[in-house]
Amino acid sequence: MLKIKVPATTANMGAGFDCLGMALDLYNEITVEESEVFSIKIKQPVGKQFATRDNLIYQVISRFYDEVGKKMPELALTQDDNIPMTRGLGSSSACIVAGLFAANELAGRPLCKDELAQMACRIEGHPDNVAPAVYGGMIIAVLEGEEHKLHHVKIAPSEELSFVTLVPDFQLSTAKARRILPQEYSRADVIFNVSRASLFVASMMSGNWDNLGVAVNDRVHQPYRGSLIPNMDRIFEHALGSGAKGIFMSGAGPTLIAISSRKDEKTLARKMKAFVKDFNETWEVKILHADLEGAQVIGGKP
Ligand code: HSE
Repeated sequence: MLKIKVPATTANMGAGFDCLGMALDLYNEITVEESEVFSIKIKQPVGKQFATRDNLIYQVISRFYDEVGKKMPELALTQDDNIPMTRGLGSSSACIVAGLFAANELAGRPLCKDELAQMACRIEGHPDNVAPAVYGGMIIAVLEGEEHKLHHVKIAPSEELSFVTLVPDFQLSTAKARRILPQEYSRADVIFNVSRASLFVASMMSGNWDNLGVAVNDRVHQPYRGSLIPNMDRIFEHALGSGAKGIFMSGAGPTLIAISSRKDEKTLARKMKAFVKDFNETWEVKILHADLEGAQVIGGKP
């Protein structure tokens, strides 16, 4: 039985819109095998409506076979989803990457990891969730030219950092969250974001975390998407007043992520849990860390 394990991802990380992302230690797993009869089982009751041939993983496997010019076998697929759906933690990217890795194994590995990452970017349209889901760690990713060729660098965030992740009980579709963004930005906003994204990467690489609070500030997406997330400004303020090194919207939201030192993670999580308890929406607080492995194939052919 072939099993694929794919990490959750956070994208943008403040100012790095569509180019910075990081894998987190929260995973979806799928098992897949050739079968005479088509079947999809989804372990979580909330996913039952996705147990059809329209299933994203199934569609991605089908697309893979088309692109490599091979005939797709009938499949039995099981999904065990721990990444909350449509919350800004890369659940659809995890499906895309899981589907591509599974298909590649089933088809006898016609593509290498870089080619799978490239195909994942083509399907997703932007690289900042799929690239860290493939490679693990924090990824700086650029799609270049008409071919949208992926150029990336992986860095390993320090084990001393924790990511206190605040997940609300409502969903926010990436398509909707992209539609509300402006078509153009002022020179001042461009300078604001380029400088902070650069400072963020350098701070993560050098361990100079005093800069993180400034480095995660953003003028490209958070000010616009913030209106879709009730109480976001109050939560940001409370996190910073409670010892967070910085706080940003995860991907297109609505999840928010506060950066903490590992030694203070429980204190910060407790304070944030107490703070969000009285809001109308229910917020789940998870303490996550960077995943450095990315997607893993377990039990494939040797
Ligand atoms: N960079 C993407 C966005 C991530 O913010 O729209 C969400 O998939």
